[in-house]
Amino acid sequence: MAKKRLQKKREAAKAETPKITTKKVQPIKVETTKTEPVKVETKKTEPIKVETKKVEPAKVETQKAEAVKVETAKVESAKVETKKTETAKVETTKSEPVKLENKRDDDHINRERLARHLDELKWLYCELYQDNPYVTMHLNDLLKVLKKFYDMRNDALKESDLNREKDPTWYKRNDLTCMMMYVNAFAGTLSNLESKLDYIQECNVNYLHLMPLLDSPRGRSDGGYAVADFRKVQEELGTMDDFAALTAACHNRGINVCLDFVMNHTSEDHEWAKRARAGEKEYQDRYFFFDNYDIPSLYEQTCPEVFPTTAPGNFTWLEDLHKHVMTTFYPYQWDLNYRNPIVLNEMIFNMLYLANQGVDIVRLDAVPYIWKQLGTNCRNLPQVHTIVRIMRMICEIVCPGVLLLGEVVMAPEKVVPYFGTVEKPECHLLYNVTTMASTWHTVATKDVSLLRRQLDIISELPRDYVFQNYLRCHDDIGWGLDYEYLENFGIQEVPHKKYLNDFLTGKYPDSFARGELYNDDPRLGDARLCGTTASLCGIERFGFEGNQEGVDRAVRYDITLHAFMLSQSGIPVIYSGDEIGQVNDYSYKDDPEKSDDSRYLHRGKFDWKLAENRHDPATVQGKLFPVLDKLEHIRSSHGIFNSNVPIHTIDTWDNSILAFVRENDEEKFIGIYNFSENDKVAWINEEDGMYTDLISGREMEAKGVQIPAFGCYWLCRNKQ
Ligand code: GLC
Repeated sequence: MAKKRLQKKREAAKAETPKITTKKVQPIKVETTKTEPVKVETKKTEPIKVETKKVEPAKVETQKAEAVKVETAKVESAKVETKKTETAKVETTKSEPVKLENKRDDDHINRERLARHLDELKWLYCELYQDNPYVTMHLNDLLKVLKKFYDMRNDALKESDLNREKDPTWYKRNDLTCMMMYVNAFAGTLSNLESKLDYIQECNVNYLHLMPLLDSPRGRSDGGYAVADFRKVQEELGTMDDFAALTAACHNRGINVCLDFVMNHTSEDHEWAKRARAGEKEYQDRYFFFDNYDIPSLYEQTCPEVFPTTAPGNFTWLEDLHKHVMTTFYPYQWDLNYRNPIVLNEMIFNMLYLANQGVDIVRLDAVPYIWKQLGTNCRNLPQVHTIVRIMRMICEIVCPGVLLLGEVVMAPEKVVPYFGTVEKPECHLLYNVTTMASTWHTVATKDVSLLRRQLDIISELPRDYVFQNYLRCHDDIGWGLDYEYLENFGIQEVPHKKYLNDFLTGKYPDSFARGELYNDDPRLGDARLCGTTASLCGIERFGFEGNQEGVDRAVRYDITLHAFMLSQSGIPVIYSGDEIGQVNDYSYKDDPEKSDDSRYLHRGKFDWKLAENRHDPATVQGKLFPVLDKLEHIRSSHGIFNSNVPIHTIDTWDNSILAFVRENDEEKFIGIYNFSENDKVAWINEEDGMYTDLISGREMEAKGVQIPAFGCYWLCRNKQ
């Protein structure tokens, strides 16, 4: 099915090129300059009580929106769908009884929050949709429905919002540890996952990223990233009620829940797509449809492909409709047209619906792609930032306890602007993707120069920015490295990518890694890499060869990479299964629905049998799990790992050893990481007395430190 479409895409791509007929949209000025780091307040504040007494609903102030001079007389036929929002489940029973204390009522709180943002919200919205004669109507619709979502938010969530507003640095400290997982791979169903929360807590996890779990057609789901209904859970996983019950159970244990919000596209099975396919113009306007290949062919000239081998091209020919539809990702994922304000409004409502089910962190999937403009690469356009800023303000109005995590897998200079500015923030959290890729570059080259430079770049950013650090995720590892820097050493992009891939797929006799390529397009030499952390560290190879010494060294490397990740500034993310050293799962090759997507190599089922070994020191699990546990405990009990504590790298006079310092008034920390298979000496020379290695408890000076192959130290000195 998908293949047929791919073929159609290719055939269509051969059609001739015609003229452009697109309206120019004024680019919106987005402020992305760096600002002075703000002082991070770390004092815990007293939780405040929420007033729950029912009061007369106050009117949402929308009249100011009318002041914007636009034509509002005609009413567009497209109705704003607000019906569904009524069905949002409001959970009130589980919340603690809240007392009237400060006499502020719900509506007052909401009005205050709205007032804080209304001007900017109107300004950005109206500028974004300046070509739309009904902009004011859409804005008013948006504001009206925001109030409904606020009213439907349950008391427990409202209380959490208030507490987090009072403690805005709650996610910037050293006490959050994230684990990401597919519900089906880990527990089968949502309710079964609830029964596994003890294990999740045993992993010190208090931030759980559940991979997409919303309704998605089997065989055309892209791992759940093709959503057919934003308000329905995949049947095999359970129901939306199960999900809300799970988030409530997590909250009771202090665990935050993160869910993907797949906003760039819907599945072709989504109701809008179906109605568009049935010929309803109103719904066709929510996507990008073209009668011929004229405009698509122009887009193809400037828009790179995301999946060059598994889904080439950015458009799909729909034989039944005789139209082309824009599909940046898979042919069954239809790109949404955010030039249509109804799309933005409705998608915001979907996001708020999920927030009201208890989602604490919303992962904005593929967010750089959401605005398309002919003649550009259709990534990171200024309008994307406007929309993210609008979403941030809307969360601050309706559900200020909710964080936005941007999935921006781009070059570093494109990533950071998604934080916005300190005064006008966009995302709360972003992935530290370049550090992740640079780490695997370092594994393959045994040379830390690039990684050191990358850490120095990150350390220059305002301390207010919080990154999520990770070794790998559910996606491939793309080689988005700083090639300009590498060129100084005569390293060229294409041959270097080939070297990295060859090493990490085990092509050289000394390469311990067992990865697989992803989207290997020989035209571009741009293949990416898949594999679990354990397999990339050598646990798979040496285990298979029965080489115990090799396994032990590989486990040590696995620990060192995790230690490096855990000591960086930001929130560490562990992929479920990595904590027990789970290796690649090759069974995807036998599943026709997965076999052409090698990312399934590292998305295998969680192995509960293996997990039972975690306290047996004779096993890989027993060597790995307790040490990671220890590292996580150390991290959460030392303020030195707080995101606001600066980092700087220091010279070790050895290209394979990375060292960095973090220091505050109380402590000085030196992390030392050996990326070489040889025992070495880190020639650091700190003259300030004795340190303790927090991992082994050993006392030592931070001078000429002997460090085993693939080993690490967390040296720390109390300054008081
Ligand atoms: C994101 C997801 C990836 C998915 C893509 C399309 O990049 O992480 O898994 O394929 O979006 O939704």
